[in-house]
Amino acid sequence: MKIAVFVSGRGSNLRAILEKVPASKIKVAAIVSDKADCPAFSIAEEWGINTFSVSQNEKENFITYSFLIEKLKNENVELIVLAGFLKKIPDELIDSFHNRIINIHPALLPLFGGRGMYGINVHRAVFDSNVKVSGATIHFVNKIYDSGLIIAQRAVGIDDAETPEEIAARVLKVEHELLPFVVEKFADGKVAIVNSRARILD
Ligand code: GRF
Repeated sequence: MKIAVFVSGRGSNLRAILEKVPASKIKVAAIVSDKADCPAFSIAEEWGINTFSVSQNEKENFITYSFLIEKLKNENVELIVLAGFLKKIPDELIDSFHNRIINIHPALLPLFGGRGMYGINVHRAVFDSNVKVSGATIHFVNKIYDSGLIIAQRAVGIDDAETPEEIAARVLKVEHELLPFVVEKFADGKVAIVNSRARILD
């Protein structure tokens, strides 16, 4: 199965996919960022994968979302994975890849999600709330931030965490296990929506 991975940061989740999902099951056909010089592009270079910088407005060296959609369709990309992509996905892309765009969020949605909840902000809110577990959520992307059907979650204990950064580190470790696991399940055709619930079939 061919996938595209959208990034805005260092790309540790991208690297986890590349290193942990068997090459016999997936091929990353494109790495897309909202930035011209995204740090994760160095991973693309290491793995010989094409990169694209996309923008809603006309910008030099950037492509438009319409062009990106055409490109991804031509490449027969079947799944788009948002791995730390910080821009909202335009409706035209969501409509073109219905139930074929997933996002990883570094908390247990529906708590600690929505606009502004990204990066350390999430873990600071979790820390300040005094909850005893956090974790990672993988969900379908729809037109409202962080509110698509949840596909998978994995929790981690944080009762003894002393800083938000410590929570971030524990959650990131879970992300690096959960995301490759779910991407591989997509490649195996084992992700389904049954009675309006997204599920991973055994
Ligand atoms: C991850 O924590 C992910 O959950 C969030 O953004 C971060 C991306 O980190 N959406 P990286 O670029 O994959 O290292």
